Amino acid sequence: MALKPATNPEVEAASIELAIDGRTVTAKDGVSLYDVIASTGNNVPAMCYHYTFDPFGSCGVCLVMVEGKKAPVRSCTAKAAAGMVVRTEGDDLFQARKKAVEKHLSVHPLDCPVCDADGHCELQDMAFQHQVTTLTNAKQKLIPEDTRSLVLDFNMNRCIACGECINVCKDVLMIDALQFVKKGGFTQVVAKGDTALSCEFCGDCLAVCPVGAITNKYSKYLYKPWQLKKTTTTCNYCGDGCQMYIETNDNEVVRVTSPLSWKNKWGDRAETAAGHGGICVRGRFGFQYIDSKARLRQPLVRRDGKLVETPWLETLHPMVERLAAIKAQHGPQAIGGLITARCTNEELYLFQKLMRAAIGTNQFDSSARYGHLNFVHAVQHALGIGRMTNDWEDITKAKAILLVGTNLTETNPLTAVRVKEAIRVYKSQVIVVDSAQTKIAALASHPMMVTPGTEGLLIQGLVKSVLEQDLVDEEVTGKHPQAFAALKQAVARVPLDAIAAQTGVSVEQIHEAAAIFAEAPRAIILCGEGIVRRTGGYEHVLNLVDLAWITGKLGRPGCGVNTVTEEPNEQGAVDMGALPEFLPGQVRFDDATAREKFAKAWGAELPPPGSGASLMEILNRCRSGQIKALYVIGENPLATLPASLEVRAALENLELLICQDLFLTETAQLAHMVLPACTYAEKDGTFTNLEGKVLRIRQTMDPIGESLPDWHIMTAIASGLGYELPYESAQDIQNEIMKLLPGYYNLGQPRKISPKPESYLGNGYVAEVGSRYRSGLKPAHGGSGRRSFTLTMGQLLYHSGKLSTQASGLINISPSGGRLRMNERDLERMGLGESARVRVTSPKGSLELGVEADLTVLPGSCFFPEHFNEPPVKDLMPVEVDAATGVPYFKLAEVTIEKVDEGGEVARGLSGGAS
Ligand code: SF4
Ligand code: SF4
Ligand code: SF4
Ligand code: FES
Repeated sequence: MALKPATNPEVEAASIELAIDGRTVTAKDGVSLYDVIASTGNNVPAMCYHYTFDPFGSCGVCLVMVEGKKAPVRSCTAKAAAGMVVRTEGDDLFQARKKAVEKHLSVHPLDCPVCDADGHCELQDMAFQHQVTTLTNAKQKLIPEDTRSLVLDFNMNRCIACGECINVCKDVLMIDALQFVKKGGFTQVVAKGDTALSCEFCGDCLAVCPVGAITNKYSKYLYKPWQLKKTTTTCNYCGDGCQMYIETNDNEVVRVTSPLSWKNKWGDRAETAAGHGGICVRGRFGFQYIDSKARLRQPLVRRDGKLVETPWLETLHPMVERLAAIKAQHGPQAIGGLITARCTNEELYLFQKLMRAAIGTNQFDSSARYGHLNFVHAVQHALGIGRMTNDWEDITKAKAILLVGTNLTETNPLTAVRVKEAIRVYKSQVIVVDSAQTKIAALASHPMMVTPGTEGLLIQGLVKSVLEQDLVDEEVTGKHPQAFAALKQAVARVPLDAIAAQTGVSVEQIHEAAAIFAEAPRAIILCGEGIVRRTGGYEHVLNLVDLAWITGKLGRPGCGVNTVTEEPNEQGAVDMGALPEFLPGQVRFDDATAREKFAKAWGAELPPPGSGASLMEILNRCRSGQIKALYVIGENPLATLPASLEVRAALENLELLICQDLFLTETAQLAHMVLPACTYAEKDGTFTNLEGKVLRIRQTMDPIGESLPDWHIMTAIASGLGYELPYESAQDIQNEIMKLLPGYYNLGQPRKISPKPESYLGNGYVAEVGSRYRSGLKPAHGGSGRRSFTLTMGQLLYHSGKLSTQASGLINISPSGGRLRMNERDLERMGLGESARVRVTSPKGSLELGVEADLTVLPGSCFFPEHFNEPPVKDLMPVEVDAATGVPYFKLAEVTIEKVDEGGEVARGLSGGAS
């Protein structure tokens, strides 16, 4: 039953008029009567209705009288119709609703004193509102609590069978992990198959449950809702930037909730196209690192080879003296820095200001270098914009979505929910190009599984197909005939059947996908790690821009080229200029006017143009001895980068390594000084999410131990160096950014940006397009081509970088298994059982590890999660550095896999080839 407002942006539902309590109300024809009544500000009592999905109509509380009907009707499932006359008040309705509440309460345990939902329970509120004081024929269900799930407990004595948990999981999340069963004479919610819950553990079912039937295992019995301080903030795990509430008791994080838990029938009747208010498993259950015992609480200073706890004053003073001495002796070019994109905008801004203005160096980088910068540079170069063009609402309402190289449900689960809503509500065609059988591929209308490393080739195939099938938008290409001719000439060199052979996708499939994309009125491209973190990432994004251009999808409303970001503030890192190529506002560092503006604002001379260094060059300069001091904030290059880059040697060569972090990371263990920083829960600031929304993070609790916000530590260092950064709060830094980048703080609304391809198409395009298509017919394998498996490293849903490995809630769900994930067919073929061990060999080395079956891994591929270094699979990865963007590629390798027998010998004749 579709009672949501008109779901097709092209066809608006007709407007109708009806009378509610004597007032004439205008509404859309066919939507839920409950919603229409709620739009007048009148919230009819209700228990089983939720704005996120179609009404289930089970609780019988939302009763209203409709003229012409003898009995009250359930307003949630009734459709609004023209001329309806509705009454929402009256003793008859009160008594009917009261009866419904009594019915529920008569089989509900009155265990409110020990229920987590006590004080935030819709049944309690309904009982109170309807003065239910006596219950005749009450009986107990006496159903044992189901505690089999890792994170949720199910107490079916409290369940009112409203179906909200099942509906949110099935309809909104398209995961469908729950069901009703009749057991012991009662309808109960159980995991599908009545086993332990095995799902994505987002906790949205917990959020929508109107009573305490589903409880959070990590916080059960720890609180009453009214005892908790609820702080609205933004998640610190991925670039989706979900809004959430961190709930604390004193200085302890008890639980995390999201708007979905609170925005219900008493709240907004939200339109969900811009988000349904949920969060993912990382956001909800990954908070324990905030007050983890492993957090650094005191500065550490190396003495006699050991890191020793030292008071701040005794750490900062000598540290700044050493920095100053290095600068005095060797010049500012002897100092470099790295910063994580988990820092706030204000901190990223301050970091680059400290490096450029206080120290005088342009040798620093942020974690946006690991891939996002490929996207930014490509769209800046081609379109004059520096981030993705569309927002969540555009994704939801797209008619065609092309997802390339993005395991979206794992990396950006809430962006994935937008694609799911596009599929479910807006009937979007979704084309997935990937080398893994991802969950989003399973939901897509057109999944196209490609040979690993050939995602970029498939893009070329789509461009070629658009030309061959004459799906070109002649109006837009006609404006740039030379560019279009150059593209046609370049693409002519790329035979479609060769692309089909190398990618493993048939020419017909390529043609079909190209036609769907080209012909859709609103078509969105979304690429991810399989593009931006793999060889040729920069050029592949440019080829995606070509695809959008020739099909007329640049600048048209609801169309565009987009990406996703892994860390929460990668976009902010770029916007704030926390990298050598850009000043704040994404202006080129060597732009004379911008240099003058910032030099004046900061009262300092900027480092000379051309003196900058990005991540790879910084490590080279550490190794060569040019950089003698490195200031590392929240980054852990030793644990992230392959050993062949000799990161350890680079860091050990330093005279001064300062690490500012939450934990004593592998890199921090090598440091001369370690400074304890605060998490996002202990400070104020903003993140810029992947849509370009600037979102607030708010201080939830006091800093743990002696830890300090990153910005605070930076101001102290600058002041020690004789450069005053006179900020007393994150707000002070914001005020400065606001002056320099007017309009950047957009109050949570993404600023609309429009691509401007004219300059690119009219100038450099003709000269460069040929090389982009010529280079295409080489799979990006990073190896000799003789090895039989493709090993990829990537992200899991339950983790984010290495930070999540400090969250006990997530480690509980997804521990470091240390196993290589392979396709079942390959395991069987190679005779690899559960306890088997294999030797994996790449051009960079060899190591032994266990194996496990993974349904998402295609035959001939294997996968290892990038969050874990036990064993150090990353060291098998060859590294290439993008010549245009300096992005290091190290997520894919060709390997051989051999079975190791119990004595540790490689069994002869059992090495696996792709099947
Ligand atoms: S936790 Fe999320 S995925 Fe699991 S059952 Fe609940 S709603 Fe479904
Ligand atoms: S567990 Fe909660 S949400 Fe699910 S049917 Fe029962 S009362 Fe409704
Ligand atoms: S990890 Fe990403 S998707 Fe999950 S809650 Fe945080 S911001 Fe949202
Ligand atoms: S029947 Fe309408 S809210 Fe439950």
